[in-house]
Amino acid sequence: MKLTIVLTSTRPTRLGKSVADWFYSYAKGESAGFEIELVDLKEINLPLLDEPNHPSMQKYEHEHTKRWAKIVDESDAFVFVLPEYNHAPPPSFVNAVDYLYKEWNYKPAGFVSYGGISGGIRSTEVAKHLLATMEMVPVKQQVMIPMVFDHLEDGAFVPTEMHEQSAKVMLDTMAHWSNALKTMR
Ligand SMILES: Cc1cc2nc3c(=O)[nH]c(=O)nc-3n(C[C@H](O)[C@H](O)[C@H](O)COP(=O)(O)O)c2cc1C
Repeated sequence: MKLTIVLTSTRPTRLGKSVADWFYSYAKGESAGFEIELVDLKEINLPLLDEPNHPSMQKYEHEHTKRWAKIVDESDAFVFVLPEYNHAPPPSFVNAVDYLYKEWNYKPAGFVSYGGISGGIRSTEVAKHLLATMEMVPVKQQVMIPMVFDHLEDGAFVPTEMHEQSAKVMLDTMAHWSNALKTMR
């Protein structure tokens, strides 16, 4: 089973990179039976959706779409490292999701969300709505990081025990769903 962690924030001064680096190394140690990969939407560098056909047709014209489709198609589960911008997910996340359809279908999704006092909970709820439309299964277990800026030391994210415990519960739940949904696919 392949779990792909998607770093969704693309700002030059983003804190998401520190959060994603922590979660990637935590998940590799914990594993829950997954092979784990980290992808960065800043590096994937998708333009605003520029495919002429509906994604469900999978008639992709652009190389950037074919590359992104391959990554998503080869993954069995996803964890999105998601900030909150104006009570919503970042546009980079929505754009990357909209590019594809079948490649997302019947796969579980978890969130490591972060922001100010809300810890990205509002952003996650909006994101789940979108993922449900992709026929994905967003799990309720989640890592939430309120006041993310208070957890950085020399640029590195330093987790609390609660962050680590929530990460473990989320990964275990996702392993169950990944097995069930792989059978279904
Ligand atoms: C455009 C913008 C809007 C934001 N809106 C919210 C918000 O609605 N709620 C919140 O908790 N934090 C908000 N923040 C604070 C971010 O959650 C915080 O800056 C976080 O570090 C952003 O993730 P990033 O650094 O990985 O881009 C906002 C930040 C930006 C840049």
